[in-house]
Amino acid sequence: MTDLSAPIELNDGTAMPRIGYGTYKVGDDEAQQAVEAALATGYRLIDTAEMYGNEVGVGRAVNGSGVPRSEVFLTTKVWNDHHGADKARAALEASLERLGTDYLDLYLIHWPSPKQGLYAETFEALLKAKEEGLIRSAGVSNFLPEHLDAVHDAVGVYPSVNQVELHPYFNQPELRAWQAERGIATESWGPLGQRTGSVLAEPAVTAAAEAHGMSPGQVVIRWHLQHGCVVIPKSSKASRIAENFEVFGFALTGDEMAAIDALETGKRQGIDPGGNER
Ligand SMILES: NC(=O)c1ccc[n+]([C@@H]2O[C@H](COP(=O)([O-])OP(=O)(O)OC[C@H]3O[C@@H](n4cnc5c(N)ncnc54)[C@H](OP(=O)(O)O)[C@@H]3O)[C@@H](O)[C@H]2O)c1
Repeated sequence: MTDLSAPIELNDGTAMPRIGYGTYKVGDDEAQQAVEAALATGYRLIDTAEMYGNEVGVGRAVNGSGVPRSEVFLTTKVWNDHHGADKARAALEASLERLGTDYLDLYLIHWPSPKQGLYAETFEALLKAKEEGLIRSAGVSNFLPEHLDAVHDAVGVYPSVNQVELHPYFNQPELRAWQAERGIATESWGPLGQRTGSVLAEPAVTAAAEAHGMSPGQVVIRWHLQHGCVVIPKSSKASRIAENFEVFGFALTGDEMAAIDALETGKRQGIDPGGNER
């Protein structure tokens, strides 16, 4: 059986922790404190983005934590207005500067932004940065299979990671299987599914929580791990940051997994990556 506390191996051989701390809507000052708390708890994957406006705080926490940089898996993302080879390269350099580091573990294209038609060229720039040692792995976010195939057609490889909206209300079984067949790791954003409705109050979740003596949040995070996903819950509360990391001492049964899978609504809470909003 897979040890879910051990890193997964990406398609380029890089090891990536399966659980990380997400920093969306965590401001720069707050980010420093929160990431320090996450690193002290034991998280070794930190997820930020140039769009979050908190790379300076994240970088201060990582660099001041006492955890060797080589033990932290640091991810950031290139925003939509920096697609294209030159702009993406400049955006990467600016992120490295703000984060106070000379390399990233994973750099993602935040959205495919198909209306610009530049995501394959942008991905090629990421591969060049990887060759130069500025990033260890090149990935994407919010890509649909058609975008992933277009990248593959253009550059001959699939991205190492696709970070997508994924939670019990939108659990993406087809995409997960499609990506697994092609060696693309699935990373879940919005994993607690709290944007609309409350996954954590669903009877399928609370019953499993009660059965295992865990919290609803821990049950949902464990559900992601057992589906083979990398998961990056966010909390601004130190107690929840710690709680969300304690997910390795129990396992959901097949029936509990199926009951949570059945919460699927087929509806995204975020925007459609294939549309023109981004
Ligand atoms: N690539 C993309 O386009 C994209 C989009 C969205 C997010 N992301 C990434 O994914 C990360 C996670 O997504 P997210 O921040 O949108 O949502 P999330 O992690 O699913 O949920 C965060 C919300 O859940 C609450 N929460 C956290 N732990 C809890 C627990 N144990 N019990 C009850 N409530 C809990 C938090 O409140 P408190 O803070 O009050 O604890 C917060 O309101 C982001 O931070 C970001 O790094 C990426």
